[in-house]
Amino acid sequence: MEKIEIKKLLTEIKPGTEVKVAGWVRTFRSNRFININDGSTIHSIQAVIDFENTDPELLKRITTGASLIVDGMLVESQGKGQSVEIHVKKIEVIGDSESDITKPDVYPLQPKAHSLEYLREIAHLRFRTNTFSAVFRIRHAMTFAMHKIFNDRGFFNIHTPIITASDAEGAGEMFRVSTLDPVNPPKNEKGEVDYTQDFFGRVANLTVSGQLEAELAALALSKVYTFGPTFRAENSLTARHLAEFWMIEPEVAFNDLNDNMDLAEANLKYLVQYALDNCADDLAFLNQRALDEEKNKKKEERSEMSLLERLQFIVDHDFVRLTYTEAIDILQKSKPAKEKKFQYEVKGFGTDLQSEHERYLVEKHFKKPVILTDYPKEIKAFYMRQNEDGTTVRAMDILFPGIGEIVGGSQREERHDKLLQRMNEMNIPAKELWWYLDTRKFGTVPHAGYGLGFERLLLFVTGMTNVRDVSAFPRTPKSAEF
Ligand code: 4AD
Ligand code: MG
Repeated sequence: MEKIEIKKLLTEIKPGTEVKVAGWVRTFRSNRFININDGSTIHSIQAVIDFENTDPELLKRITTGASLIVDGMLVESQGKGQSVEIHVKKIEVIGDSESDITKPDVYPLQPKAHSLEYLREIAHLRFRTNTFSAVFRIRHAMTFAMHKIFNDRGFFNIHTPIITASDAEGAGEMFRVSTLDPVNPPKNEKGEVDYTQDFFGRVANLTVSGQLEAELAALALSKVYTFGPTFRAENSLTARHLAEFWMIEPEVAFNDLNDNMDLAEANLKYLVQYALDNCADDLAFLNQRALDEEKNKKKEERSEMSLLERLQFIVDHDFVRLTYTEAIDILQKSKPAKEKKFQYEVKGFGTDLQSEHERYLVEKHFKKPVILTDYPKEIKAFYMRQNEDGTTVRAMDILFPGIGEIVGGSQREERHDKLLQRMNEMNIPAKELWWYLDTRKFGTVPHAGYGLGFERLLLFVTGMTNVRDVSAFPRTPKSAEF
């Protein structure tokens, strides 16, 4: 007999059918009821054994974490909490799991609540918890939906390079890729490391963004997007930063900033709606989990909406759009500014917004997602289109409740002279980016794009609060286990 996924078994198979399932034991009660989960769904199936007629040696091996294959009859359940169960005819333990807590090799996931911090230390096993299996099923669904929306809209997916010689964001937070001997690297006359002898004959790094290459493709294929890993050596130990994270970067020829905002808003709404439509069981579980967590919080720290309400809210409401300058004005007049409650002061035009300011705008002032545009050129990247005022650029950041910045993008500077001038002002090596400048010489067009941080989107959709819990194997400063 072929084995059947528990998800299928619970939704498609009629009682009275012979079935075979394979999975891991979550719990084993009264020497009789085994809860088996195979990861296909948040739900486990209960397998009931006739213990009087089962070999006691086999019974001892049915422990939390053990893997097994069960054959039996699917029947309507007598007990509460499940509609069907399996009456076991044959049971085979495939891999044992030590359950004696006095033994050194005891299974670390005993059936009780574990803290998220503890589970991060056992990231190789945390997939087996309800929380993490739900998170990673949703992560898959969001990956699929991302490709689907862009494909449906006529975009082409471009695989931009992971190893690159250019610093797209100009922030210098890159990881070096080198095969030179670290102890004794070759040196030039000036005594500096001679990277001309390195693997690529030049300095190479892991990419911080696929944007520059995506732009090249957009200026021929019109509508493209990248979806890949990006790497940043910024030493920030926050709940929203990873050293390795995934980013979606659409880039569209002939689009201006308004088109760009429309696309990003539609993109985010589509993904949230997709999750509501296709991940209902997992979201219901995570919703309840978040509600339980809230009970431990002080009243003023509790969120006004549940996870499911927040998701529905995003789908139902237009995002607020305003300029950076208008936002600074609101922030300076705000209660926390007057009462000096912000950790970072909002000094005025030119202040780089911190997540506390972004979250004030979204959560307290507008109570809606916010798109801020037209930032001062000094705090944004060289490639953004310069406004006529000479001080701002066509940037846009999308700010989400509980997250802060989820999207960063802009209309691009398509005018060769203006771009070159800005690169010189910002010490971006024009010689090395000759190919980027070339596209502004030959048939240049207005174009725009953005980067959506995938883990930040997942924080929003799953209600988790730390990016380390939506990335299977998070990379952060001083941490690259697994
Ligand atoms: O705002 P950023 O730096 O924009 C870019 O990289 C542009 N090249 C995008 C573009 O226009 N094509 O990053 C974009 C998004 C942020 O809004 C945030 O969601 C996410 O990427 N992000 C991070 N996510 C996790 N960990 C980090 N260290 C992140 N840095 C940025
Ligand atoms: Mg940004």
